[in-house]
Amino acid sequence: KKKVLLDVDTGVDDALALILAVQSHAFDILGITVTSGNVSLDQAFLNTNKVIQWMNPEPSIPVRKGSEKPLNRTPVYEHRVHGKDGLGGALANQPVRLSEGEDAIDFLIQKIEENPHELTLIMTAPLTNLARALTRKPEIAALVKETVIMGGVVQGYGNITPVAEFNMYVDPEAAKIVFHSGLPITLVGLDVTRQVRLNEKHLLKLDSSPFGAFVRQATAQYLAVSERRTGVRACALHDPLAVGAALDPSLLQKQAYYVDVETNSDLCDGQTICDFQNRWGKAATIHVCTAVQSERFLNLFVQTLKGESFH
Ligand code: BDR
Ligand code: CA
Repeated sequence: KKKVLLDVDTGVDDALALILAVQSHAFDILGITVTSGNVSLDQAFLNTNKVIQWMNPEPSIPVRKGSEKPLNRTPVYEHRVHGKDGLGGALANQPVRLSEGEDAIDFLIQKIEENPHELTLIMTAPLTNLARALTRKPEIAALVKETVIMGGVVQGYGNITPVAEFNMYVDPEAAKIVFHSGLPITLVGLDVTRQVRLNEKHLLKLDSSPFGAFVRQATAQYLAVSERRTGVRACALHDPLAVGAALDPSLLQKQAYYVDVETNSDLCDGQTICDFQNRWGKAATIHVCTAVQSERFLNLFVQTLKGESFH
């Protein structure tokens, strides 16, 4: 099994990503690190523990608490989409124990060092935790097998400002550190995640599954916001697609480019700039996802949650 570690800011779509990762039974999940992002660190930590304890995976998965805020900015939350509690009110009465243990940054470093060239990092949140780990120990970059990042947008518009995607915008300084660290990176941006949209047809198929009620409730507000914005009642599965990229790389088409992120502009902070024509003459270091087989991914998502094999 592929060894993975997830970094999340749970969040409706982070929760769906966690469910997909656990329920696929395709990964050896070494741990989950949590950061501030969609909601506060405490709320994201609570939500992550809740989702994992509710699923009760065997063997159990350690959940570790990370960064309270971006490297040097004040937090920006996204309650409009994720609701006051970050899960759209789902699992409100689910009992939860808060996990303890060492801090997420030490945990990340330790797992990477214990599993040289074997670990895939799946990042579905602002990149604060990983940036702090890399700053503490830059050598770990050479030990990671793959880093799949949900973040950025290279050819389209943003989802938090006209040009920036949320995870990049919240902590662009962290994204810059990660992009320039030498880590092998696959960037799963809005260009592809916007093409995988969950709609009523999928919810109906999921109704009979153990996750049906959860997915319906968690996505209700997200669907309403998406409908107001786009006119179509369907919501993008951003974070689950990052898990999809690790599960089955053939779902996505990739091309290596030099990519950087803006950190010093009134208008454009968090914008990801992809040097398509190599005008800067710098080495192409990031594998940017440029196309996705949407129907295949959505089927994989639905079938995995229903407990049906997708192979
Ligand atoms: C990303 O931002 C967050 O709101 C989502 O959880 C996802 O990680 C999409 O831009
Ligand atoms: Ca997220």
